[in-house]
Amino acid sequence: MTLLEVSGLVVQYGEHRAVDDVSFQLDRGGSLALVGESGSGKSTIARALVRLIRPSAGSIVFDGVDLTTLSERRLRPLRHRIQMVFQDPYGSLDPHLDAQHIVAEPIAVRGERSRRTRDKRAAELLDQVGLPSSALTRKPHEFSGGQRQRIGIARALASEPDLLVLDEATSALDVSVQAQVLEILATLRAEQGLTYLFISHNLGVVGAVTEQVAVLRSGQIVEQGTTADVLQRPQHEYTQRLRRSALEPALISGRKPREVVRAIAAARAAESAAESAAAS
Ligand SMILES: Nc1ncnc2c1ncn2[C@@H]1O[C@H](COP(=O)(O)OP(=O)(O)O)[C@@H](O)[C@H]1O
Ligand SMILES: [Mg+2]
Repeated sequence: MTLLEVSGLVVQYGEHRAVDDVSFQLDRGGSLALVGESGSGKSTIARALVRLIRPSAGSIVFDGVDLTTLSERRLRPLRHRIQMVFQDPYGSLDPHLDAQHIVAEPIAVRGERSRRTRDKRAAELLDQVGLPSSALTRKPHEFSGGQRQRIGIARALASEPDLLVLDEATSALDVSVQAQVLEILATLRAEQGLTYLFISHNLGVVGAVTEQVAVLRSGQIVEQGTTADVLQRPQHEYTQRLRRSALEPALISGRKPREVVRAIAAARAAESAAESAAAS
C-alpha cells in the first residue's frame, strides 16, 4: 500500500528551480534513499514534505491526502505522522531539558496527561535507540554527536510517526558511530514497520537502510531503482560518479550495517593510505 506519492513536484526559490518535476512513491513499511550531491535539492524536497516550504507545482499525497492543498487547520492533526531527523539535532534539542524530558515532550503534545506514563514511554524510547538509563537525566551538551542523534531519533519516534524523513541524519558522525545509528535505524524499521525517506549525499551508506534509491541531480531524478541494482549497475554517468566517491558500495550492498561500517572504514583507510603515499 502506498503511503507517500510525490508527483511532478516543483519548488522554486524565486527564479531558481531547486526541485524540478520530481516524482516518487513509497510503500508503507518501505524505504527510499534520496541521494545526490550537495545542492541537488534533497533538503528542499524534505522541507516540502513537512510543509516548511510550499511547492509551486505538483502534489504530495500522504496516506491518500494531498498535503499541498490542505489548510493549516486540516494539516495540523497530520503533522505528527511525518517526522524529520536532521544532521545535528543539537539546535532542535532544548539545552535546558534532560533527555527524558526532551523525548517526553511530544508525548505530552499528543495528549498523554499522565506524567508517569510519559516518563516511562520516554525511557523505553531511549532504551530502544540504545542509550543507557543513566542518559535519562543528562542534558544535550553532556552527550556525544552520535548520542544526540539517537535522542533526536527517539524524540521523532515519540510522535508515533508513520514516516521518518532523515536528512543527512548520519552524515556528521564518524564512520563507526554512523554505522551504529544505521544499525539502530534498520532494527527499528524491521521491528516497527516504519517507513523511511533516507536522504544522503553518500550513495555508500544507503545500502544498509533502504530498499529503493532515487538519484537526484540539479533538482531532477536521473535514476531510480532498487538499491542493489543502482549500487551494482548504476546506469547514469552521474550515479557512477557518486558511486565511485562512495567508497566501494558494491562491496557494501546487501550487507548488515555492522559489516558496512567495517567495509567503509577499510575503504577509507585504504584511500587515506593511498593519498599519503601519493603526497610523499
Ligand atoms: N532558502 C533558500 N533560498 C534560496 N535558495 C536556496 C534556499 N535553500 C536552498 N537553496 C538552493 O536550492 C538548491 C537545492 O538546495 P538543497 O535542497 O538544500 O540541496 P541539498 O539538500 O541537496 O544540498 C541549491 O541550489 C541551493 O543553493
Ligand atoms: Mg541538504
